[in-house]
Amino acid sequence: MEQRGLGRLRLPGLLALLAALAALAAWSPRVSASRNLSLWPLPVTVRTTPRLLYLSPGNFFFGHSPTSKTGPSCAVLQEAFRRYYAYIFGTYKWHRGYNKIPSEMELQKLEVSVIMDPECDSFPSITSDESYNLLVQGPVATLTANRVWGVLRGLETFSQLIYQDSYGAFTANESNIVDSPRFPHRGILIDTSRHFLPVKTILKTLDAMAFNKFNVLHWHIVDDQSFPYQSITFPELSNKGSYSLSHVYTPNDVRTVIEYARFRGIRVLPEFDSPGHTASWGKGQKDILTPCYHASEPSGTFGPINPILNSTYSFLSKLFKEISTVFPDEFIHLGGDEVDFNCWESNPAVLNFMMNKGFDRNFKKLQSFYMQMVLDMISAMKKRSIIWQEVYDDEGKLIPGTVVQVWKMDNFYNELGNITAAGFPVIISAPWYLDTIHYGQDWRQYYSVEPLNFAGTPEQKQLVIGGEACIWGEYVDATNLTPRLWPRASAVGERLWSHQDVTDLEDAYRRLIRHRCRMVRRGIAAQPLFTGYCEHEGRM
Ligand SMILES: *[C@@H]1O[C@H](CO)[C@@H](O)[C@H](O)[C@H]1NC(C)=O
Ligand SMILES: *[C@@H]1O[C@H](CO)[C@@H](O)[C@H](O)[C@H]1NC(C)=O
Ligand SMILES: *[C@@H]1O[C@H](CO)[C@@H](O)[C@H](O)[C@H]1NC(C)=O
Ligand SMILES: *[C@@H]1O[C@H](CO)[C@@H](O)[C@H](O)[C@H]1NC(C)=O
Repeated sequence: MEQRGLGRLRLPGLLALLAALAALAAWSPRVSASRNLSLWPLPVTVRTTPRLLYLSPGNFFFGHSPTSKTGPSCAVLQEAFRRYYAYIFGTYKWHRGYNKIPSEMELQKLEVSVIMDPECDSFPSITSDESYNLLVQGPVATLTANRVWGVLRGLETFSQLIYQDSYGAFTANESNIVDSPRFPHRGILIDTSRHFLPVKTILKTLDAMAFNKFNVLHWHIVDDQSFPYQSITFPELSNKGSYSLSHVYTPNDVRTVIEYARFRGIRVLPEFDSPGHTASWGKGQKDILTPCYHASEPSGTFGPINPILNSTYSFLSKLFKEISTVFPDEFIHLGGDEVDFNCWESNPAVLNFMMNKGFDRNFKKLQSFYMQMVLDMISAMKKRSIIWQEVYDDEGKLIPGTVVQVWKMDNFYNELGNITAAGFPVIISAPWYLDTIHYGQDWRQYYSVEPLNFAGTPEQKQLVIGGEACIWGEYVDATNLTPRLWPRASAVGERLWSHQDVTDLEDAYRRLIRHRCRMVRRGIAAQPLFTGYCEHEGRM
């Protein structure tokens, strides 16, 4: 599994890797456990030396190497250079007490080299190569990656190597880092239906995700409570279904989120959950929900989406057509969880439909019929579907390649074994429901989960493509999203990025304390892990 990142390297990548390994051999390696190193998530290999390099804010530059496939026209990298310059120098007070750094001790430049296609204008995907090599030495450090996505991850690591000493000087130890992620899908689920999250809050979340090398924003955008997504095809959905007309994501808002995410190497995965969790859809779209009956009369209440009407499918096909163009990602999440069958059961037309179809009053068959229609739609749009585990559990005939997201703790590892044995890729979120809060350091329990701890063949384990930390919105809005997510989600971030052997809780604690302070310094209101203080506080 940990070979995944290397397996993707093609020849030029391999040469770069060999060169880096040769450089390592010539190095005087000192794998140090210095308490000052606070890399998070921990890279695959880190070598540092006691040799210190100094950076002067006025004489330090990021640039493209002459051999790089990228240049100043690569906006993703130019923007990243600007951001990381500010993260490294901008939030500190500059101490001008020391002037000239002896040139043999100065780090003047980080030169970036993208070996393969620059992909500067494209979107990250599940197969994006995020590996990178970082060689920090004076006077020019080098960051080499196959793609820009690896450069973004390497810039984050580079920024984490630099600290300000007690005289105010910016310092980094000479070091050599080779890194790539363990899993390709590392997500945060946000829920903008139970509470609306302002765009500003979502962008902040994307910043924090980049600091933790997450690469998927799973946007559970609509649900029973509200429909904030403004559809161009069906504007009544949000006109009637949102909490208010100012609690809406306009097409421009959605584009802003997607573009901001792209600049951080983050995919935006939209979820339009159905046929359950759709009460808000009924306000703006006539006949979309099933009328429930009581004593052979319509009771005036409504249940899941009505699966027996042709109009349902023509509506869904237009809506998903729009969604598939608005969101560039290859995947759409279709939900499919927690469907309540009582309303379907009460409705005579539904029962009649089921009889004609030979469904035998088996409502799981009706649910499968519905999901199959939607799954086929998505596949006709050349997109891939992700569904919650119930759709698999209820024996829906899934198209190969459909991804199953496991969210139930019951028999969690068995479920992983069963789904992967059936050949379907899996995303894990069951152990990482961060909306559930506990007293104390619950990050430790998230950190201690080993995703591949189930009986299965190596092929089955390859099918676990990653996981997600979920922060459902019943008790969460813009006031508490950030402190509730961070640094608890950081534990999940390291579990999904770092090597399987990185499990030492005390080492993680020491690094996470400092990483949390770093996030706070960068404007993320991450809550404390435990008692203590952040060094930068005293200097503010
Ligand atoms: C490293 O951290 C310790 C405390 O954890 C501090 O006393 C020391 O000054 C730090 N060293 C540098 C070079 O920042
Ligand atoms: C960095 O360099 C300092 C000064 O030589 C040394 O004390 C420290 O152990 C080094 N840290 C690492 C992580 O190698
Ligand atoms: C719904 O569509 C099916 C298949 O196209 C067709 O056989 C059926 O008559 C349609 N039902 C109604 C009520 O239009
Ligand atoms: C899942 O696998 C376990 C054994 O790993 C088995 O006992 C169980 O019956 C399976 N469940 C299903 C629904 O196939």
